[in-house]
Parts: sequence; structure tokens; C-alpha cells
Amino acid sequence: MTSTPRTQGATIWLTGLPSAGKTTIARLLGDRLKAEGHRVEVLDGDEIRRFLSAGLGFSRADRDTNVQRIGLVSEVLARNGVLSVVPVIAPYADSRDAVRARHEKSSTPYLEVHVATPVEVCSARDVKGLYAQQAAGELTGLTGVDDPYEEPADPSLVLRTQEQTPRESADAVHALLAERGLV
Ligand SMILES: Nc1ncnc2c1ncn2[C@@H]1O[C@H](COP(=O)(O)OP(=O)(O)OP(=O)(O)O)[C@@H](O)[C@H]1O
Ligand SMILES: [Mg+2]
Repeated sequence: MTSTPRTQGATIWLTGLPSAGKTTIARLLGDRLKAEGHRVEVLDGDEIRRFLSAGLGFSRADRDTNVQRIGLVSEVLARNGVLSVVPVIAPYADSRDAVRARHEKSSTPYLEVHVATPVEVCSARDVKGLYAQQAAGELTGLTGVDDPYEEPADPSLVLRTQEQTPRESADAVHALLAERGLV
């Protein structure tokens, strides 16, 4: 009988402002990892909010609950050999720290990638029109504008997407995974 070698999973959390590039990088990275034969899941914030976190809003408490739920799912996946890529804003440092602690408890690798696109660049990209809506007074509580974003103090990687193509950003995350022996 042959057995498949166990692969090491990990959570790769991409945190950053709206329109920073989290989803774009996660998809490119996910596609590359899949093509290389890895087991991969991309847990995107927008999709998660439609089911696992349906009903949650954007208060501090709800944002934390959302991040803890995603953190739980991602840790379970990663502990079972999946590379779990999480493009989710996660604006509060204590929420991210709780997710990190959950991973440390089970000795599951957790990498925090700060997609550090400046707010001026994000608001010029404005993929979902949120910055324009906020400026027009049609929306309040936009992360990085009139809602907090606590920058990671000690991320595994910082991406300056305003100086890179999406492919270069995704490749930088892949290089980090290789450096950590995860791919
Ligand atoms: N180096 C880069 N990496 C990622 N995205 C980039 C880069 N350079 C330019 N972009 C562009 O920036 C935009 C980022 O949009 P994206 O939806 O990925 O942001 P997001 O961080 O997921 O935002 P949200 O939090 O609103 O979901 C895309 O249009 C993408 O093409
Ligand atoms: Mg996104």
C-alpha cells in the first residue's frame, strides 16, 4: 500500500486597507500553488461575509467576530495540510493576535503579510467605489479613512504594491513560503 506524504499546511493572512490588493494577490498566489500541486483554499472576506459571517456588520465587535471565525476555519484547514490564503482586512491588532495565538497552540504555521498600499493609492484604485461613497457622505466607517486600521507591528512580509505588479507581489509571498519550507 502506498501512502501520500503529509504536506505541511499554513495560514497566509493578507491584511491591508480596502483596494490594497489582497484579493488580487491571494488569487494569483492560490492559482500558482494549485498548479504546483498543493492543497489550497482562499478564504475571501467578501465571500465569507455572505455565509459564515452573514448578519455581521462592521462594528468593532462584529469585525472581531468575523476575523475569529475565519481564523478558526483557516487554522483547521492549515492544521490538516492545506495552504489557506486569507485576504481579509482584519483591522485590529488584537484580533489578528488572537488568530496567531490559535495557530501557535496547535503549532500550525501562521504568516502575516501586510499589503501596505498607502490610503491615497487605495482610494485612487477604489475597486468597489467605497472611498467615493465615503467622500460623498453615503457611507461611514471605512477602514483607513473614518474607521481604524492598526498596522501590523511585526509582519512576516510587507508588500508595497504601488511599486509592483500583482504578479510580483504574489511571487514575493511565494518566496516567503519557500523560505519557510512550506512549499
Ligand atoms: N502589486 C499589486 N498587487 C495587488 N493588486 C494590485 C497591484 N498593483 C495594482 N493592483 C490593483 O489594485 C486593485 C486591488 O483590488 P483588490 O480587490 O485585490 O483589493 P482588496 O485588498 O481585496 O480590497 P477589499 O478589501 O475591498 O476586498 C486591483 O485592481 C489590482 O489590479
Ligand atoms: Mg478583497
